Amino acid sequence: MTPPRRVGLLLGSLRKASVGYALARALPGLAPAHLVLEPIPIGGMPFYNEDDEDQPPVSWLAFRERIRACDAVLFVTPEYNRSVPAALKNAIDVGSRPKGLSAWDGKPAAIITYSPGSLGGYACNHHLRQSFACLNMPTLATPEIYLSGCAKLLDTDGAIANAETRAFLAGAMSRFAQWIEANASARSTTHW
Ligand code: FNR
Repeated sequence: MTPPRRVGLLLGSLRKASVGYALARALPGLAPAHLVLEPIPIGGMPFYNEDDEDQPPVSWLAFRERIRACDAVLFVTPEYNRSVPAALKNAIDVGSRPKGLSAWDGKPAAIITYSPGSLGGYACNHHLRQSFACLNMPTLATPEIYLSGCAKLLDTDGAIANAETRAFLAGAMSRFAQWIEANASARSTTHW
């Protein structure tokens, strides 16, 4: 039996009624039971400024520790202006420093993007992959998880309305669980 794996869950939208929050509520019921999904808030952190590394904000230190404590990370996000929402990019930058001590190093990752339109947050998904390549985060390639038409994805209780989407996400989380095991020792000694 696979031991429990801690998966940090990062949401790109800070909006209270975010589609991402609804997805995050549904995912534990769809993922294999040994994946323990732990929401890690990103909204309260000051913008990354290297000058502050002498006395880093407590919120940066706590965030880095939470990422380090995870076995893997799962990103659930809309795209903003065909790229990564600023709060999420800030969290990625905060976690990547101080130089040589990136909390992301070697963490297996998966990305779920969504959009009200038909593109499913494709651009954000691939901008994240670009960052994750240089951060040495082995990122699940397939299935690609772009959820289009997200306004119609949820029922009135905020649950995922469509059985096909639930089955797709369950399959994707199962693949992610395998990916985490396959990449359990991806930590690198190379740092920027
Ligand atoms: C958006 N939205 C958006 N959608 C998209 O498909 N491509 C895009 O580039 C953008 N850009 C964008 C910029 C900004 C600043 C906002 C606020 C929104 C729409 C976005 O995908 C939609 O509002 C999602 O529902 C937001 O996700 P949450 O907040 O419901 O999780």
